[in-house]
Amino acid sequence: MAERWAPDSWRKKPILQVPDYPDMQALSEVERQLATYPPLVFAGEARNLKSALARVANGEAFLLQGGDCAESFAEHGANNIRDFFRVFLQMAVVLTYGGALPVVKVGRIAGQFAKPRSAPMEKQNDVEWPSYRGDIINDIAFTKESRIPDPRRQIEAYRQSAATLNLLRAFAKGGYAALDNVHQWMLESVKGSAQSRRYTDLADRISEALDFMRACGLNFQVDSSLGTTDFYTSHEALLLGYEQAMTREDSTRPGSYYTTSGHMVWIGDRTRQFDHAHVEFCRGIKNPLGLKCGPSLKPDDLLRLIDILNPDNEPGRLTLICRFGSDKVADALPPLLRIVKREGRSVVWSCDPMHGNTITAASGYKTRPFDRIMQEVKTFFAVSMGEGTYAGGVHLEMTGKDVTECTGGARAITDEDLNDRYHTVCDPRLNAEQSIDLAFLLADLLKKERGEKARPLAAVAGL
Ligand code: PEP
Ligand code: CO
Repeated sequence: MAERWAPDSWRKKPILQVPDYPDMQALSEVERQLATYPPLVFAGEARNLKSALARVANGEAFLLQGGDCAESFAEHGANNIRDFFRVFLQMAVVLTYGGALPVVKVGRIAGQFAKPRSAPMEKQNDVEWPSYRGDIINDIAFTKESRIPDPRRQIEAYRQSAATLNLLRAFAKGGYAALDNVHQWMLESVKGSAQSRRYTDLADRISEALDFMRACGLNFQVDSSLGTTDFYTSHEALLLGYEQAMTREDSTRPGSYYTTSGHMVWIGDRTRQFDHAHVEFCRGIKNPLGLKCGPSLKPDDLLRLIDILNPDNEPGRLTLICRFGSDKVADALPPLLRIVKREGRSVVWSCDPMHGNTITAASGYKTRPFDRIMQEVKTFFAVSMGEGTYAGGVHLEMTGKDVTECTGGARAITDEDLNDRYHTVCDPRLNAEQSIDLAFLLADLLKKERGEKARPLAAVAGL
């Protein structure tokens, strides 16, 4: 018999990655305040995402999840949000068209502010201060004051999340995401590249198909599936005090609780101990959940976690986000795929090709070689096909900006180039061009996975 769950039952469990707040009274005050704020998302929306993910679990759709490693207060602004959304839409179009299936779009955005760290302290030269834990907790500047956790930052994270979500909703539902705009999403920084030519070619074909459907009498004003899109938000459920404060009981279904900080939340690779606080909190909320699966996860432990997080075996409830590294995925993935299949568990299998492929460049920057990222995705698909499971999604760290953070790609960013536009506050992200390049690779893999069952018109309608 499972122990009784409550929004605060995680507080009695062991917990990792907690910030050391010097003023606990100020922290409680902020949490009390947040608990009175309006929800950022609604239970019904989280349920819709779960249904969409259930289609992914059944092999009828593909999950595209991505965004910053960590959102930054300083970079919060309309242009960044718009440029991210444009690249994301372009990727979704490439995947929808190539894979001939609907793409479930989930951003790492509007709440992705808290970071787990491998060490509690950071040393530079001979000076040591507490590690940066994300803008919701402390400041990235390397000074003693900046690194002190400040609970009021949670209020600013809420405010920025609300503003970001508001703009994203306007873009998704207000006409910006209409398929008719497929040519307009191309960013200046990508124009002229091989990716942009490939994309323009595809956009031309989509426009032609739309003209054809219009000529046949289809009224796009009436059929909203072509004029709007569904876009969802997600982040790591790391700062549990904030998540608890944002948790609300669904007024239409008493006894059902949702964290209203985002549609989907995930448990990180460092905080997935089955008897610890993060798993305890997440098991009780009804949002769709992600679980990061890294090289140290044993098949039996995965099964135990699935039992806890998805005891009713609901399709769409749980997404397993695999992040092994291009050199480990071929050995680490099959045992997990097999045990889940053997036990008849319904999950979404998603590939995070970022977190197992981080290296330190000779120049000192943390980077990720683009070919290793591509290789992990290819191996993930090959292994899945070999085991007869559906490779259902990807989880990426990416931006709409023209940054130089991951080496390689069509413009062959070198170790020396990293210094040019290295803007991330945490892990290195794919830039716009690398993101679109990866989307084309994924589209080819999806096509293969689906056995060339291309149905372009139906796919356009499903965007
Ligand atoms: C992340 O997604 O930014 C992250 C920290 O991932 P992981 O928990 O897989 O290391
Ligand atoms: Co990261």
